[in-house]
Amino acid sequence: MIILGIETSCDETSAAVVNASEHENKVELLSNVIATSLALHAKTGGIIPEVAAREQVKFIIPVIEEAMSVLKNPQEEIDAIAVTVGPGLIGSLLVGVETARTISYIWNKPIIPVNHLFGHIYANFIRSNSKLRTSFDPELRTEGQNSKIDNEIEFPAIALIVSGGHTDLVLMKNHRDIKWLGGTRDDAAGEAFDKTGRLLNLPYPAGPEIEKLATGVEKDVYHFPRPLMDSDDFDFSFSGLKTAVLREVQKIKDPSFDEIKNLSYSLQEAIFAVLTKKTIKAAKEFDVKSILLGGGVAANQTLRKAFEFEIRNLKLEIPLFVPPKKLCTDNAGMIAAAAFFNLEKTDWRHISANPELYFD
Ligand code: KG4
Ligand code: ZN
Repeated sequence: MIILGIETSCDETSAAVVNASEHENKVELLSNVIATSLALHAKTGGIIPEVAAREQVKFIIPVIEEAMSVLKNPQEEIDAIAVTVGPGLIGSLLVGVETARTISYIWNKPIIPVNHLFGHIYANFIRSNSKLRTSFDPELRTEGQNSKIDNEIEFPAIALIVSGGHTDLVLMKNHRDIKWLGGTRDDAAGEAFDKTGRLLNLPYPAGPEIEKLATGVEKDVYHFPRPLMDSDDFDFSFSGLKTAVLREVQKIKDPSFDEIKNLSYSLQEAIFAVLTKKTIKAAKEFDVKSILLGGGVAANQTLRKAFEFEIRNLKLEIPLFVPPKKLCTDNAGMIAAAAFFNLEKTDWRHISANPELYFD
């Protein structure tokens, strides 16, 4: 079956076409077009919802047309339309949802509402040898074109979603049984990077910048606190970290490049120590067969290495799955993939944007 996916929950405008067969455990991406207004937000140090939504109104139709151009006759070939209904910014969500409803009505196609957080998990269910059309972003063009053989994801699985808005641990017994175990009580992991980045005058989003700055540093000079690392639950808390960094920055006054590198490294170490420890604790407790990462922060190579190291160190034989970098951050391919495995088809009358949507 062919699914058109649409994602506009935050600042990206994305549309994708996936091909999925019921006998396969992963979907194939035919296109995954992403237009971002990130350059506008970099100047303001964060996303201004009104600016994001206005850009999305401009981009949505060309992005969908570009994504569908891999099909000869989209109206005939598309079986369903998947769209992110939440969580996210209301103005942004409405752009995607109303466009999807309109296409669904005009073409008489079913529509599948998708929770954005499930999308991040399902980025792991996209075949890695997909050939993509992603012409809106030249950097994306080669993504996923390697011919690596895909491993099977086996259940039960633990999934860690680490993005700018969320940090959640979930237990997947199967596609229909996904249980939330815990999440952040305050800032998300990506938010901790972005807020600290602002303190250090780094461009938004700061996660990738901090990863670059931390490269080559070998010593955890500042050893920031590891909040809730040893608590009995599966919760996280990252808001205290920016205060800890602020205190150091105030002490140093005008940090040198080397000091910024050290601060970046120590921040990453603190966040990743907690993420790996809690996720692996859950993996052991529920005796899982796979660990999945997803969300923008999962694009960080140091986080992947930290997981690989811990898994090896503890001699756990649990495979780790991390989507290719460009499928970690927001994209419509992951939304179409999530829709395929949770085919809750409805019609255009029955869906609406829900900015507060979370896990059940
Ligand atoms: O998943 P995403 O694109 O959007 C949300 O759903 O929030 O995640 C964006 C977040 C931002 O906070 C950004 O700083 C972070 O992911 N991020 C990273 C990296 N790339 C993006 N954090 C750490 N290292 C990275 N390489
Ligand atoms: Zn996201």
